Amino acid sequence: MPDIIDQIPILSKRNVQIKNKDKLNDMLLNISKGGLKKLQIVFDFDKTITKQHEDGVPHLSSFAIFSKIPSCLNNEKYQETVRGLRLKYYPIEMDPHIPVKDKIELMEEWWNLSEKAISGLKLTQKDIDEVCLDCKPALREGCKEFFSTLNKAKVPVLVFSAGCGDIVLTILQQSNVFWPNVKVISNFLNFHDDGTITGFKDKPIHVFNKNEYAIKNTDFYNLVEDRNNAIVLGDSLGDASMAQGMEHCQNVLKIGFLYEHIEDALPQYLDTFDIVLVDDQTMDVPRAVFDFIR
Ligand code: C5P
Repeated sequence: MPDIIDQIPILSKRNVQIKNKDKLNDMLLNISKGGLKKLQIVFDFDKTITKQHEDGVPHLSSFAIFSKIPSCLNNEKYQETVRGLRLKYYPIEMDPHIPVKDKIELMEEWWNLSEKAISGLKLTQKDIDEVCLDCKPALREGCKEFFSTLNKAKVPVLVFSAGCGDIVLTILQQSNVFWPNVKVISNFLNFHDDGTITGFKDKPIHVFNKNEYAIKNTDFYNLVEDRNNAIVLGDSLGDASMAQGMEHCQNVLKIGFLYEHIEDALPQYLDTFDIVLVDDQTMDVPRAVFDFIR
């Protein structure tokens, strides 16, 4: 069998970790045989499309950007509530020693309480546009080029986010990456006629239910029914299941970005993702893999 991995030089870089090279080799071979007509790409948003950090400063999540909208920023009760929730639940989300099965219930709790906290706030799309421009979210190096290539190649792209959908969509639009081939599944806000938020449009999507639960019966699902190869990119262990709801997917190549708790989390990431990128703030590896496949 040809050794595909050797044909993609970037995969031998020191921060690129692969546990099972034979499995990756097979998968790359199968996906490249299927070609672009059989391919779809699924991206997580926060810390996957955006950078995990810039010079050590962590990147704001879409929910954190939302909280900087003036009517949220000036609402002390709201700020206190979300600060308290983040202090309690974020360390749990990131803790490599807590089993995923124990985290699920706690993440559900976090998202339900977040929904409760934003309900009653009043804001407009203009507020969202402005906060996204002000926060200047940094997309990974090479992200814009990658999205442009995927659009030209007519490969369907799903941005599957447990973040705040309205912020995610606005950032994608402002960054000029929301091409016609891109769909977003996320927590979109539901507004009352007077601009007051009543909650999310659908049941909350959190970091560990980004799977068949949220993907079935969507436009994207129907669009990719005949595409049985997928590349999935994420930074959280739960992101690896993002193609799980698509039973027709035979080859799912999972690429994981790891930055926090590197030493402790690496074994789990290596078990979960086919390629693990340690502190890599670029799209260089996914682009090189795609260039090989096309
Ligand atoms: O796009 P992605 O699925 O990664 O977005 C989810 C992220 O949003 C989680 O990693 C979580 O840490 C963050 N979050 C937040 N504030 C909330 C809920 C989630 O910053 N209220």
